[in-house]
Amino acid sequence: MTVLLLGSGGRESALAWKISQSAQCSHLFIAPGNGGTGAFGTNVALKPTDFPAIEAFCREHGVELIVVGNEDPLVAGIRDYFASNMPEMRLVGPGADGAALEGSKDFAKKFMQRHGIPTAAYCSFTSETVDAGCEFLQTLRPPYVLKADGLAAGKGVLIIDNLDEAKASLREMLGGMFGKASATVVIEEFLSGIECSVFVLTDGTGNYRVLPVAKDYKRIGEGDTGLNTGGMGAVSPVPFADETFMNKVEERIIRPTVSGLIKDGIDYRGFIFLGLINVGGEPMVIEYNVRMGDPETEAVMPRVASDLLPLLDAVARGNLGDLKLDIDPRTAVTVMAVSGGYPGSYAKGKVITGTELAGESLLFHAGTDIDAEGRLVTSGGRVIAATSYGTDIPDAAAKSFKAIGALDFEGKYYRRDIANDLI
Ligand code: AMP
Ligand code: GLY
Repeated sequence: MTVLLLGSGGRESALAWKISQSAQCSHLFIAPGNGGTGAFGTNVALKPTDFPAIEAFCREHGVELIVVGNEDPLVAGIRDYFASNMPEMRLVGPGADGAALEGSKDFAKKFMQRHGIPTAAYCSFTSETVDAGCEFLQTLRPPYVLKADGLAAGKGVLIIDNLDEAKASLREMLGGMFGKASATVVIEEFLSGIECSVFVLTDGTGNYRVLPVAKDYKRIGEGDTGLNTGGMGAVSPVPFADETFMNKVEERIIRPTVSGLIKDGIDYRGFIFLGLINVGGEPMVIEYNVRMGDPETEAVMPRVASDLLPLLDAVARGNLGDLKLDIDPRTAVTVMAVSGGYPGSYAKGKVITGTELAGESLLFHAGTDIDAEGRLVTSGGRVIAATSYGTDIPDAAAKSFKAIGALDFEGKYYRRDIANDLI
């Protein structure tokens, strides 16, 4: 099978690594890919949201399956585009209707309410109802959670302790703080607990498989301090997501989500990412995403023991049937090396050395590129993730810290406490 994977991050590196191992994979293209994905296939200079160019490429190269890594093409309707223009193409990822689970927090909240899925209480407001929004804030206890309705590159959620500041932020958001994305703002009840990420593959007909559960580390600083990032590390499995917890997740969240999509007439074929919070042993949904997580994928893919490609192809065809998804029992810990200054401004083009010292650890490139002189250089905030298997969390974490420690580029930073909270 000839496969085209869209995206360029650590998530796509891990997906490319896994897909390329499939006996069914005759050729893998990654568009645009990064400085590391060339090891698993052929990088192609295409923008994931340039649908006509992707279509032309697929026709020319006989692509049979498109796997969409990131949310932007999904929210922009890549499935709908191919359904109209090249209906024979198989694609992993929902249409724009399903992608609204990530593209609109208001839509996602209404979906959860409609289908009885546990989530924080909420109300939505626009510039016309800003005064009602301020009154609603007065009825809540701090901290106040304000979310831009639309995609805001992971920055659209504000958590504010002070009521007056929350009211001011609500006005700023509705006034265009995140552009069109915050024309509607969701205000919700604050939930307290530990978060984890659950990933589901579903085929649009009610069949689904649950991938290994993971926890990511969002803050830049050790001890979960400082600014939010795209993710500084991940662990899979997650000790608190035990069988009892996961049974509740399946019963109360996964099944109603999959059947809710069908009831709503949404033909959802792809990954569903459940951002969950454990509130005193009870799982609640913080958010939906319509793709895999990054860096969770870098810890999850190494734990998928089955060949992934037949599963992805079956999802796209709508016939997961009784295909098995076996899970590797080992623990995987991922540590991300980032550019100095990230998530603020940072330099690019720093030469990276030491990738050959990773030993048994897997390196998944994120923000890397090959420069004109053929050198591996930094090209983004998150640069390279190292994932290691271990018998337990300390064992896997120690190996990943060693691999990341052996990497060298000017300004390299990583959190040395990834997974410590779970030991
Ligand atoms: P989101 O973009 O929806 O994932 O939100 C970003 C982060 O904000 C989440 O990962 C949580 O850590 C936090 N968050 C979002 N909603 C809530 C909530 N209702 N209660 C507590 N924390 C929240
Ligand atoms: N790691 C969280 C995300 O991918 O959104």
